[in-house]
Amino acid sequence: MAPRGPSNRLPAGVRAIRRSFWSAAAPDNAGIAMEDVTLPDGEKVPALGVGTWRMGEAARAHDQEVAALRYALDLGIRVVDTAEMYGEGGAEEIVGAAIKGRRDEIFVVTKLYPHNASSQGTIEACERSLERLGTDRIDLYLVHWRGQVPLVETVEAFERLKAGGKIRHWGVSNYQLGDMDELLALEAGGGCAANQVLYHLGERRIEPDLLPFCQGRGIPIMAYTPLGGQRVLRSSPLPQIAIKHDTGPAAVALACLLRNENVMVIPKAVQFPHIEEIAQVPHIKLDAEDLAALDRAFPA
Ligand SMILES: NC(=O)c1ccc[n+]([C@@H]2O[C@H](COP(=O)([O-])OP(=O)(O)OC[C@H]3O[C@@H](n4cnc5c(N)ncnc54)[C@H](OP(=O)(O)O)[C@@H]3O)[C@@H](O)[C@H]2O)c1
Repeated sequence: MAPRGPSNRLPAGVRAIRRSFWSAAAPDNAGIAMEDVTLPDGEKVPALGVGTWRMGEAARAHDQEVAALRYALDLGIRVVDTAEMYGEGGAEEIVGAAIKGRRDEIFVVTKLYPHNASSQGTIEACERSLERLGTDRIDLYLVHWRGQVPLVETVEAFERLKAGGKIRHWGVSNYQLGDMDELLALEAGGGCAANQVLYHLGERRIEPDLLPFCQGRGIPIMAYTPLGGQRVLRSSPLPQIAIKHDTGPAAVALACLLRNENVMVIPKAVQFPHIEEIAQVPHIKLDAEDLAALDRAFPA
């Protein structure tokens, strides 16, 4: 399928972003202003990224998926999340093709299968991911979910990869409070730089405990499936608030999650108008009335 081009029927706010980006002269102007999260070592990472689940599964979609990621990067998005699981390596190859020639601008996140997370398995899986991504380093390497391999093995392997420059940071995904306690009790557990978990307006279970736990330890939360599905996006008051801010419901849903300190979002989009809406998120400032209405409609 041929890639769909940029939408000609964008809200005014998005058209303004596109103008400001495309008129930027210097490479360091090529991004859009956005809030950052802070990793435990103090490094700043943009709070808005993009995901790649369901990419790399079908050859016929290859060009469209690469074009979609490139378009997101063109619109200033700088974080790309993938995993060896997605398309069994296919999504990492899509990311590799999309970041070719602009690697240094991008913060690349990928994930390790838990069944590969042994001492030697982690090192080998990392090498395979590096190959598919076409890079010499991964910015953030996560173990995808808690598996059977003792945690200490995975953490030690992560630290070896870090010492060897193959990864810059490591972290976890789908770790609940008890898992985090176990992790942080390990000698090198304090090196954990992020926890990627399910978090959207319709699923706010992390808010009472896991979220403050991670915030209190300086560990960013990466919200996955942050849009929560079309049913959430169609639910009142998202469409009404979107009209007020001259954007779409997805952008409002993401902006709402980003009100939380040290939370980042990684929505996935292949359709160009979707990407344009997502790129608008850093410019949306929800007010107290918006947030109160969202909290009433989607209680924590
Ligand atoms: N760690 C984990 O266990 C885990 C689990 C799930 C996901 N993830 C990561 O998190 C990323 C995001 O999660 P997700 O892919 O499950 O769900 P999501 O990002 O919440 O939603 C993706 C869906 O929303 C659509 N969409 C995107 N922008 C939209 C917009 N502006 N308006 C309406 N619909 C829009 C996309 O359509 P189109 O693609 O057609 O544009 C796609 O169908 C994944 O891609 C993956 O990288 C991690």
